[in-house]
Amino acid sequence: MRFLLTGGAGYIGSHTCVSLLDAGHEVVVLDNFVNSCPEAIARVEKIAGKSITLYEGDCCDAAFVSSVFDKEHIDGVVHFAGLKAVGESVRIPLNYYQNNLGATMTLCRVMAEHHVKRIVFSSSATVYGDSKEVPFNESLPMGECTNPYGWTKWMSERIMRDIAFADPEWTVVLLRYFNPVGAHESGLIGEDPSGIPNNLMPFICQTAAGVRDKLSIFGNDYPTPDGTCVRDYIHVMDLADGHVKALEYAMDHQGTEIFNLGTGEGYSVYQMVAAFERANHLTLPHVDAPRRPGDIAVSYADPAKAKAVLHWQAKRTLDDMCRDAWNWQSRNPHGYRQA
Ligand code: NAD
Ligand code: UD1
Repeated sequence: MRFLLTGGAGYIGSHTCVSLLDAGHEVVVLDNFVNSCPEAIARVEKIAGKSITLYEGDCCDAAFVSSVFDKEHIDGVVHFAGLKAVGESVRIPLNYYQNNLGATMTLCRVMAEHHVKRIVFSSSATVYGDSKEVPFNESLPMGECTNPYGWTKWMSERIMRDIAFADPEWTVVLLRYFNPVGAHESGLIGEDPSGIPNNLMPFICQTAAGVRDKLSIFGNDYPTPDGTCVRDYIHVMDLADGHVKALEYAMDHQGTEIFNLGTGEGYSVYQMVAAFERANHLTLPHVDAPRRPGDIAVSYADPAKAKAVLHWQAKRTLDDMCRDAWNWQSRNPHGYRQA
């Protein structure tokens, strides 16, 4: 099969390219490199020993997206393209709504025009809001998001469900990711945040590398066993493999399905720090700090549906996540950029 990956040069997209190529599929990537670079694709090609067709352009640009579908035979699409920095989305909400919703709507319209009606979408556990019922199960009602980024995921889900409802030829697979971390075991590709990272693992890695003095632990007074927030961290290669299963599922099903992609295990921030130190034989300077606004105490997946329907489950351990994240960081202290 030949799949189009919008945003395929980014963190999760690049790892998914590897999994798809390894599974014998062909990959076409569309990316405007607003948060990535072509080097990531060159490295994917090196890992997989296969080539990728790459188009540089904006997913909100209908003429450009249409030209890609005119040139390529596409069996299905994974829609990763989007802006994802939560804090930035609070500061410049319009950019987030315009880019993330614009990309989703333009893409779906062009797909329909080209009779390609199978899409897998990068959603997020953020759509559950602050649900008190854990683990999060796909049948829970969607919650209140705490930021514009989260709402773009919530609204994109809604838009795609409505499209599939109106036209039964569509297949929409909504993947709700929990907390992707780690990197391909080669250390050639990984997460390359621009500026100050938002998420825990890149912050841990930069602290271990000495780029930052110490890690601030946001809140130690949550109603959790050790007082710090609990999350479901999932190795990015397990997540990537989940996309292969989701695309293969989309090939012979119709309608909308939602799947959590998580491990089902929750770990606290203190546990993550200890695991990183243990896996990499180093000490991580850290300090307790006030809570970060918008954080919820506990989030972890019920991954049973993905196991039953997609025959997918996360295999890699917390130690694998910590080791592979540090392997990438220490081999590429400046990410994809040269020093
Ligand atoms: P990323 O920023 O590394 O990748 C997103 C890619 O999309 C980048 O390559 C960027 O250049 C591209 N892009 C953005 N807007 C575009 C546009 N208008 N046209 C073309 N390309 C565009 O992020 P990621 O971590 O790989 O996340 C991929 C997707 O998964 C995103 O939609 C993100 O919101 C979602 N997601 C990520 C996480 C996470 O923790 N990383 C969690 C839940 C959901
Ligand atoms: C964040 C986003 C969420 C998004 C998810 C995955 C917020 C409020 N939420 O969630 O919308 O879907 O990433 O991209 O930003 N932590 C520290 N110190 C740090 C960084 C983080 O203690 O320097 C803590 C956080 O308080 C949290 C945990 O580590 O308790 C995980 O944080 P993070 O990696 O940002 O993920 P989420 O909070 O799950």
